Formats: sequence, structure tokens, C-alpha cells
Amino acid sequence: MAQVVLNNVKKIYDNGFEAVKGVSFTVPDGGFCVLVGPSGCGKSTLLRMVAGLERISSGDIHIGERKVNEIEPMDRDIAMVFQNYALYPHMSVYDNMAYGLRNRRTAESDIAGRVKEAARILELSDDMLKRKPRQLSGGQRQRVAMGRAIVRQPAAFLFDEPLSNLDAKLRVQMRGEIKQLQQRLGTTSIYVTHDQLEAMTLADVLVVLNGGAIEQIGAPLEIYRKPASTFVAAFIGSPAMNVLKGRGEGGTLGIGEARLALSHPVSGEVLVGLRAEDLQPLSGPAPGSLPVKLRYVEELGAHRLMHGEIGGQPLVVSLGMEHAIGDEMWFGVDPGAIHLFDAVTRSRLPG
Ligand SMILES: Nc1ncnc2c1ncn2[C@@H]1O[C@H](COP(=O)(O)OP(=O)(O)OP(=O)(O)O)[C@@H](O)[C@H]1O
Ligand SMILES: [Mg+2]
Repeated sequence: MAQVVLNNVKKIYDNGFEAVKGVSFTVPDGGFCVLVGPSGCGKSTLLRMVAGLERISSGDIHIGERKVNEIEPMDRDIAMVFQNYALYPHMSVYDNMAYGLRNRRTAESDIAGRVKEAARILELSDDMLKRKPRQLSGGQRQRVAMGRAIVRQPAAFLFDEPLSNLDAKLRVQMRGEIKQLQQRLGTTSIYVTHDQLEAMTLADVLVVLNGGAIEQIGAPLEIYRKPASTFVAAFIGSPAMNVLKGRGEGGTLGIGEARLALSHPVSGEVLVGLRAEDLQPLSGPAPGSLPVKLRYVEELGAHRLMHGEIGGQPLVVSLGMEHAIGDEMWFGVDPGAIHLFDAVTRSRLPG
């Protein structure tokens, strides 16, 4: 096992497009790092550079003690799991799992032991090992792809959206299984997804990417609680954090006609971040509350989302089922739950 270190890694494609703009981070030995960000932000490019499937334009990548920039993918001691599983259709499940080991001239007896062990861990029956991939369900194929990675006993696993072909229920189940498996094996992992929930639940180290650069890096809850920018605030968490235009005036914050108390004074135009669950319903108008006009409600069973507006700006509030919803409602906010961002740079303000 090994730590993975990226140091100022850049990727400029042949057409001159800079897809990765100097990215640095470290995945500790045994850590689970998730790269998350919108489509086109450079997640797969980064992962493919770690895997050796894409040349690094500048910077260094280390896997364990070795700098791997010039090392062939085959010799990097990594195993990759792709979105489409990339299984060989004409080979049995067993042969698919054995393939990488045979390529490395591992003894057949050793291969049999490792495939059996991986099949046991992943609950793939002997009958399934004999089938062709097309005779398996999507979730089972996904397990085979995982199995092929496990048998290699690599220094690191690399995952590129491995669950995106599965239905919602199976995704949640496989997400849990991948997490448990990684904890049990203790293999350093880098996992790419655009699904923020998958990212939150899997990561020890979360790297939020935007336009080929890191927006924020940290533990998932740390990022959730203290997003470094409005981009992160809106990307991590569901529903997305509300971001409203506001104005600091001494110790108060104006949003439309409303005035909220602040714990740290600010002045001038700011962007105000409010999580849907941090708005507390009040029984009526009160000083220091936010008046919200109802647009529509989403019933989610265990709770409901009230979509409303304040001073012409949209706002989402999460409410327990016990709260009736009116055409106009008033909400209180703890000053500690107010996130403030610079109106121009959109970065988090100190304090
Ligand atoms: N071979 C290439 N030549 C030029 N540009 C490329 C090439 N491959 C990818 N790109 C561009 O680089 C950027 C990053 O692509 P990448 O595949 O890494 O994104 P991603 O974050 O994985 O997105 P997705 O979530 O859609 O998979 C995109 O703008 C893409 O169009
Ligand atoms: Mg991708």
C-alpha cells in the first residue's frame, strides 16, 4: 500500500486546452480520496494521469516512494474500475478476474486462490464465475469489475464513476459496499464522481474541482460546514445552499426588507449562504426574521421542501412534517449559521 501525491499537476491537451491547471493534493496511505465536480472539470483527466493513461504536461505524481510520471500504466501497481466496467464479453467472469494476473505471469494456483477470495468477499457464486458478463445484471457486473481490481492487490484503486450505470437503489447499496470493502482492505483509493452525495459519504479526503482547479480540499463535513466559496456552497449538500444578495450595515445584514443579526459585523454588498435546514419557522413576523413568500412545496415523505422567495430572490427551506405551510412564513436564523461570501470574488469571508 502507498500514499499518492500529486504536485502541481497540469494537463494541456494537444489542442492547447488546459484541462487541469496545477493541482496538488496527497492521499494518505489507506485513505479514500474523492474527486468531485461538475461535468468537464477535469476529474477523469486527473485520474487517467494517475493511472498513466494520459501524459502529464507538467508536475509530478508519486505512488508510494516512486515518481511515476514516466512509468507505464501496467507497472504503476494500480487497478482501475471504470463506469462501463470494461469487461471482456467473450471471457467468463472467472477469466475476466484472472486476466490481469495472467498478464503478469502469476501462477494459476495463486490466481485461483485470489479469484476465489475476491468472489467470496463480493458474494459472487461459483455459478456466476462460469457465466459471461452479459449473463449478469448491472450490479453483478460492477462486482466483477471490483473483483478484477481486488485480485491484483494493488497499491491503489482508481475508480471513475463506477456506479453511474446502476439504478438509484443499487447505487446506494454498492456505495456502502465499496466503503466497507475499502475499509477492510485498507487500499489507498481515488474515486471520481459528479454526485455530491456519493462524494460526501465515501470520502475521507474530498477534493472539489471547478474548471480544472481545486476549489476546496478537506474532510466532507468540514467542507459542508465551511464551504470556501459560493461554488462549493452550492455544489456540496442537497438541496443546494441558498445564496442570496445581501448588504452588511454595522452589526446587521439586510436581505430585501429583512434585517438579520450578525455575529461579526460586515459592511457593503455580500453574498449570504443559508442552508435549507438552518431556517427555523416562527409563528409570525418578528424583528430579525426572514419573511418568505411561498412558491411551491416538494413533499419528500420524512420532510418537505418549501420553495419560496424573499425580496424577489429564491429561497428553499427544509421543514419537518409537523409544520403547516402558509402563503407567507417567517424564519429565524442563528447568526452562527449565516455564511458570508465576498460579492466579487465569491470566496468565504473570514470570521
Ligand atoms: N483528448 C482531449 N482533447 C482535448 N480536450 C479534452 C480531451 N479530453 C478531455 N478534454 C476536455 O478536458 C476537460 C476535462 O475533461 P474530463 O473528461 O477530465 O472531465 P470530467 O470532469 O471527467 O467530466 P465528466 O463528469 O463529464 O466525466 C473537458 O472540457 C473536456 O472537453
Ligand atoms: Mg469523467
